[in-house]
Amino acid sequence: MNGGRITTSDFRSWKGVRQISMLTAYDFTLAQILDQSGIDAILVGDSAANVMAGHTSTLPITLSEIIYHAQGVLRGSQRALVVVDMPFGSYQAGVSDALRAGIRIIKETHAQALKLEGGEEIEKQIRSLIDAGIPVMGHLGLRPQSVHQLGGYPLQATHPKEKTKLLKEASLLENWGCFGLILEKVPQELAQEVKKQCKYPVIGIGAGPNLDGQILVTQDMLGMTSQPLPKFVRRYAKLKTIIEEAVQHYMKDVQAQEFPHPQEEAYSTHPEHHSPNTSK
Ligand code: KIV
Repeated sequence: MNGGRITTSDFRSWKGVRQISMLTAYDFTLAQILDQSGIDAILVGDSAANVMAGHTSTLPITLSEIIYHAQGVLRGSQRALVVVDMPFGSYQAGVSDALRAGIRIIKETHAQALKLEGGEEIEKQIRSLIDAGIPVMGHLGLRPQSVHQLGGYPLQATHPKEKTKLLKEASLLENWGCFGLILEKVPQELAQEVKKQCKYPVIGIGAGPNLDGQILVTQDMLGMTSQPLPKFVRRYAKLKTIIEEAVQHYMKDVQAQEFPHPQEEAYSTHPEHHSPNTSK
């Protein structure tokens, strides 16, 4: 722990000791809820492009946008390790782009670490970020930033050649100094092999059980979306229904002029009615 926050060293030290729980967040309010629930690590994922902005892929999110999301998450959390995705286009072109973007993210958000999708093709970028003192998390298997090359979001590494490549790249990322790995949508037997061969924590999403931890997109696991979800997502709540019911209840009260009550007036002195968002 560093100033109360979980560090990348804590994260590494949990390999083989306990399971690691990670979720995504893109804003202050949700980050605060996750942090106060005791989540180990928060990813400010480029999935914000889908979840927050309604895009059909992660590709459009910009560096400034991910920084804006991450700033809210860092203000909302005090304990969790916060990792920020480097957006598509911010690191693929070379080391100087990657360094400039990576340093900007860390400086402007106070996040502790970055995540980059890919292996050998971005060796120099990963090494230079780590040399600059920035912890890096790898991301192998399904790489959503390569959606057009992959022709969608299919299960990855199903052919022997791809399996060998994935096993090799997982080791390389560790040798270059990454502190952890996200492994997305690969056969679970292969994920197990990666976990066994690596000394850093391997966090799965759609990669089966018994890894070193799991990650999900929070809005998916809370049941906030209407879109069909991948089979590997478990819905732990039905927040969409709860929110819809609350909104309809509010509308009914407004129609019937049952809101506000006298004690809910702005001039009420009742302490319960001073919310920080409405006290102006
Ligand atoms: O952007 C994201 O949310 C991710 C997770 C799905 C791993 O990369």
